[in-house]
Amino acid sequence: MTALTQLSQAIHDAPRWHQAEQFQDGNEIRIEAQHDQALGAVVYGLDARKAQSGETIYRLKQALAEHLILIFKHQSLDDLQYLAFASYFGSIFRPGADIPVLASQDDTGTPPDVVPVSNAVGKGDYTGHGELAAHADHQWTPLPSFGSLLYAIELPQDGGQTSWYNTIKAYEALDEATQKHLDQLQLITYNPFVRAKNNKGTTGYGATPLYRFKDQPIVGHAYPHPLVRTHPESGRKGLWLNERSEVELVHYDDQSGSELIASLREHLLKPEFRYEHQWEEGDIVFWDNQATLHSRRPFPSDQRRLLKRISLAGGRPY
Ligand code: OGA
Ligand code: MN
Repeated sequence: MTALTQLSQAIHDAPRWHQAEQFQDGNEIRIEAQHDQALGAVVYGLDARKAQSGETIYRLKQALAEHLILIFKHQSLDDLQYLAFASYFGSIFRPGADIPVLASQDDTGTPPDVVPVSNAVGKGDYTGHGELAAHADHQWTPLPSFGSLLYAIELPQDGGQTSWYNTIKAYEALDEATQKHLDQLQLITYNPFVRAKNNKGTTGYGATPLYRFKDQPIVGHAYPHPLVRTHPESGRKGLWLNERSEVELVHYDDQSGSELIASLREHLLKPEFRYEHQWEEGDIVFWDNQATLHSRRPFPSDQRRLLKRISLAGGRPY
């Protein structure tokens, strides 16, 4: 027989339902909303290595749509078990080779299904140790991922916290006239990895212009998406704009567009919309890219940090 891909192997090897000790009892699972935070719920008592019931997955999907990030504690998984768990929630995000993203490989043009997000040399080394500005994964692609999971394996002593921002709360905090105006706008977010590819050595999240004026060159393809995005499950609207990519409002005056975007970015990053996660080894955070942004604090380069990321495919934003 031919060799299986990692993903097929993961499903092939996944626990069978008739093995009682490998089947998760849904009654053991507790989902606790973080009422004192802008978003998030913590999931206790779930072992992601086990087979999950339909009821459990449905509960988790509903909780994700409501709380936007789910924090699973005390996990211990290999890559195949991690893939098997993540794929309960959708297909793995696999962009075409014409769309460079984090960890796209030189030979295939595509990223691995499990991306090592790490400064640990020899273990992937994607994103380094610097600050990451607030972003939604793959926002610059035609079909951005609906969600991503990060699994913490090795953590630094200092720094490296990840924050998530509730873009629905940010939108709802705007006055009605502003909401009405924004509701009709389309935004292009230029792919930072196209620029990074042209200027080897940059990470893709860093130094690009914040707004493209019409006399400036276009770097890469443009995929306009609504500035105000409707969440597919809840119908709630969120402000879908990241902190630092080069963006452009479609059919909009350069100067007033760049000023509007700058003020919205400032608004989005307010502490009342944010939850900062203090990682513990074994945490998996599963977030909804459709209605959140995330950022990371820097950490010392001589301390190791290794997380593994899986992103799940999403539809065209609306
Ligand atoms: C990512 C990411 C944040 C972090 O992997 O998409 O943004 O805390 N990581 O490393
Ligand atoms: Mn990210």
